[in-house]
Amino acid sequence: MSVQFLLDGDLVEIADVDPTATLLDHLRYRMCRTGTKEGCAEGDCGACTVLVGDLDGDAIVWRAVNACILFLPMLDGRALLTVESLAPAGALNPLQACMAANGSSQCGFCTPGFVMSLYGRCVGASGHDLPVADVLAGNLCRCTGYGPILAAANSTGPLERDDTATAVALKALRERPAASGQHGDRRWFAPRSGADLADLLADHPDARMVAGATDVGLWVTKGLRSIDTLIFLGEVTELQTIEESPAGVRLGAGVRYADAHAAFARLHPDLGELIRRIGGLQVRNAGTVGGNIANGSPIGDGPPAFIALGAELTLCSRDGRRTMALEDYFLDYGKQDRRPWEFVESLWIPRPDPQAIIHIAKLSRRFDSDISAVCGAFHLAVADGIVTGARVAFGGLAATPRRAPMCEAALTGQPFTLATVEKAADALRADYAPLSDVRGSAAYRLDAAANLLLRLWHREQGQAVSVLGLEAVHG
Ligand SMILES: Cc1cc2nc3c(=O)[nH]c(=O)nc-3n(C[C@H](O)[C@H](O)[C@H](O)COP(=O)(O)OP(=O)(O)OC[C@H]3O[C@@H](n4cnc5c(N)ncnc54)[C@H](O)[C@@H]3O)c2cc1C
Ligand code: FES
Ligand code: FES
Repeated sequence: MSVQFLLDGDLVEIADVDPTATLLDHLRYRMCRTGTKEGCAEGDCGACTVLVGDLDGDAIVWRAVNACILFLPMLDGRALLTVESLAPAGALNPLQACMAANGSSQCGFCTPGFVMSLYGRCVGASGHDLPVADVLAGNLCRCTGYGPILAAANSTGPLERDDTATAVALKALRERPAASGQHGDRRWFAPRSGADLADLLADHPDARMVAGATDVGLWVTKGLRSIDTLIFLGEVTELQTIEESPAGVRLGAGVRYADAHAAFARLHPDLGELIRRIGGLQVRNAGTVGGNIANGSPIGDGPPAFIALGAELTLCSRDGRRTMALEDYFLDYGKQDRRPWEFVESLWIPRPDPQAIIHIAKLSRRFDSDISAVCGAFHLAVADGIVTGARVAFGGLAATPRRAPMCEAALTGQPFTLATVEKAADALRADYAPLSDVRGSAAYRLDAAANLLLRLWHREQGQAVSVLGLEAVHG
C-alpha cells in the first residue's frame, strides 16, 4: 500500500515505502526540496523543521516537527508544508522578508528551520501561544546569534492561511482503510483502533511500536539499526484521548506532550513547567506520554513526577487490560513489566489535593532542550504540622525512575520542620547509588537531589528560590 499525504494541498503518493526512510531524506533526495536541511539528524537542531497538519474537525492543526526523525509512513493521511511552500512563486513571504531585513541569517543553514518554526507561530500552529523563545528552543543557530532572529519574530504578526481546500482533500484521503505495507522483508502497519493494534501485536510480538519516533528515529539515524516490523501508533484513536475530571486526568499513551501540556499544568504548575522543558517544541509536538514511559529511560522526565503524583499505568492486549502503579512498571535497566504483545494504553494521574506540597525539579546542563541530569518530584501531605504522607521519586539516580523509600520514611509521621527535612535529605543519599556520567558525577547528583528537598522547604517558607525550582545547572 502506498503512503499518501498532501504537500501544499496536492496529493503525493509514495509506493513501496521503506518504513524507516525519513521524511527529510525523501524531501531532499527524492523530491529535490532541498530547502529543508540536515544539521544533526537527531532531532536537536531544528534545521529540518517542517509543518505537519492534522484534521481537527473541519480545520487543520499544524505542528512544527523535525523531518529528520519522522518516518514516511507517519505522514500517511496528513498534510505537509516545507519552507518551499512559503514562497511558491519565489517572492519572500512577510516573515522571510523580515528575517532578511533584520540580518537574521548568515550561512543560512539554520534559517529554513527558524522560518518554519516562526511561520507555525504566525499561523496559529500548536504551541503558537508560547513565548517566542520557547517556540525557538528547538532551533539552533551557530552564526547569527538569536537577537536578529527574535527581532524578526517580534516584528512579524499573524499571517493568514486558507486551508479550506486542504481540509476537504484531507478528509477524503482519510476515508481510505488503515495503511500498511511491505518493503523487501520489512513490514509496517498503521492500525486505527486498540483492538486492531492488539491483534497485530498478538500476531507480531517482535514488532517495534513507534509513536512519535523521537527515540526510535535516533536508533535508525544514529544507531543505524534495522527494524523488521513496525507498528505505527499515531492513528490509534483510543490512544489519543485526554479525559480531565475533578478526580484526575487520563491520558492516552499516544497523546503528544505539546497537546498534554495544558492538562498537566492544571494538575500542578510545576508539572506544566516540567513538560514545557521536554525537548524543544518540535520534540513535544511528536513525542508522546506513552513513549516517554514505555522506553524505560532512567532519565525520562515524565515518570518521576507521575510516580510522585501516584499515577497508574494501563496496559492492553488481546487478553485484556492490566493496571499497575507506575513505579511497578520499571523493573530494571531496559526491563519493564510489559509482555511483548501488550501496549501501553493510558496513564491515570489523580488530581492532587490542593493543600498538598508538590515540588518538581529538572536539573540539566542546558536550560532548553536538554535531557535531565537529575529530575526529582516530591509530593507531601501535611496535616496539623505533621507529614502524613510522602511520595518522593527521582530520575537520573538509578537504573530506572524510582521512589526514595528511606527519604519517605524519614518524612512520614514527623513534624514538617527544617530538622525533619534535613534528616530526610540525608536519608535520600542512602536511597540511591547513582552513576557518574557526562551529565553529572555521582556526588553531584546526590548533592543536587538532597538540595532539592531543602529547596522545597525554603519555597514553602516563602523564601525566594528560582522560579518553580526549574533551572539549568553547570557542573
Ligand atoms: C532532541 C530531543 C530532546 C529530548 N528531550 C527530552 C527531554 O527533555 N526529556 C525527556 O524525558 N525526553 C526527551 N527526549 C526523548 C523523547 O522525546 C521522549 O522520551 C518521548 O516522550 C518519546 O516518545 P515517542 O512517542 O517519540 O516514543 P517513540 O520513539 O515512538 O518510542 C519510544 C519507545 O517506546 C515504545 N512505545 C511507544 N509507545 C508505546 C506504547 N503505547 N506502548 C508500548 N510501547 C510504546 C517504542 O516501541 C519505543 O521502544 C528527547 C528526544 C530528542 C530527540
Ligand atoms: S537535522 Fe537537526 S533536528 Fe533534524
Ligand atoms: S545562520 Fe548559520 S547556522 Fe544560523
